[in-house]
Amino acid sequence: MTVLSPRPDLWTLDPDVLHLNHGSFGAVPRRTQELLALLRAEAEANPMRWFRSVPERLTASRLKLAAYLQTDPAGFALVPNASAGVTAALNAIPIPAGSKLVLTNHAYGAVLYAAERFAKANQAEVVVVDVPLEADDDAVVAAVEAVLDERTAALIVDQISSATAMVFPIRRLAALCRSLGIPSIVDGAHAPALLDAPAEDGADFWTGNFHKWPAAPRATAGLVVAEQWRTRTLPLIVSWSEYDERLPERFDQQGTADYASWIAAPESLRVLEELEWPRRRSELSTMIDEGAKVLAKALGTSVADVAHPAATMRLVELPYAGIPSVEAGEALKARVSAELKAEITLTAFDGRPFIRLSAHAYNSLQNYEVLAGRLPTVL
Ligand SMILES: Cc1ncc(COP(=O)(O)O)c(C=O)c1O
Repeated sequence: MTVLSPRPDLWTLDPDVLHLNHGSFGAVPRRTQELLALLRAEAEANPMRWFRSVPERLTASRLKLAAYLQTDPAGFALVPNASAGVTAALNAIPIPAGSKLVLTNHAYGAVLYAAERFAKANQAEVVVVDVPLEADDDAVVAAVEAVLDERTAALIVDQISSATAMVFPIRRLAALCRSLGIPSIVDGAHAPALLDAPAEDGADFWTGNFHKWPAAPRATAGLVVAEQWRTRTLPLIVSWSEYDERLPERFDQQGTADYASWIAAPESLRVLEELEWPRRRSELSTMIDEGAKVLAKALGTSVADVAHPAATMRLVELPYAGIPSVEAGEALKARVSAELKAEITLTAFDGRPFIRLSAHAYNSLQNYEVLAGRLPTVL
């Protein structure tokens, strides 16, 4: 049988399965899993001693994660996920009645929901800007600029979108917001390890996941807050650090929780470093271009023309006229998993359905060729 996931020394992924969706939930290297297991065993051997040791270890880990992002550690807090980061940011900004929260039509569904919740609670409204898939940076900035005005309470924008795997010109959008006095909230869920220093583009708030591309244990994410917002940015869970004046420490304590993931996360960064990640990432980028073409050819479709695609994700058009229902999409993914032994994700944008392919260090071109050989049989 073909071994589909190489390097079993590094990864524990089922070798009989095509793992082509790193973008959704990541995958944790074997070494990090082993460290995590050791930490949890240590906690269970003596929970009291473990919780006494957590603050110091958490601080060390947080500093390493901030250094990885090349961001000021005084403005960097740990959060369990990008959803929590966006919610904490929305909780920190003033949203006057009658104001508007601006997002694009690429925004992640749950982030749109968060904006809707805060808009509703404050008698504000959500405004969604249409940004075409093919829009280049100038077109993106122009589309967003057209709706920003004195009523805008914040711009919430993806750094790399989920459904469309598109890189947004965050530095320019953040500068535009600053010039207009509008807070910017950047959803960088996919940005760590796909972009270098993603938190340094000048946004008021930036959040990103370590549990996606940096392959950290799940529930590890960061929130970077510009200096003027640090005092009023509070964790969503009120705990013992409520009155801590420093932002990072205020977020460190979230009640009794499993802090082992945060403590183990830097191990995954070491694995990436050993894989010479930036070089590997650019190889993966070339590889996924090729893989996406092979799949599109097999499906008789094309690779979506995203002006600025994410390094290691590509959209391949599905051979359907419209978007299948959510239920039909879930059923198709389940069939692909059960019958083809392939894990893929489907996305939709502007009435068009896509397969969103990922590439991480465990993928090879052969993976996409195998998918291309199998997928037409179930569509
Ligand atoms: C663009 C974007 N934003 C936010 C999220 C939410 O991330 P999490 O589930 O870690 O909160 C995701 C997850 O895939 C995403 O792709």
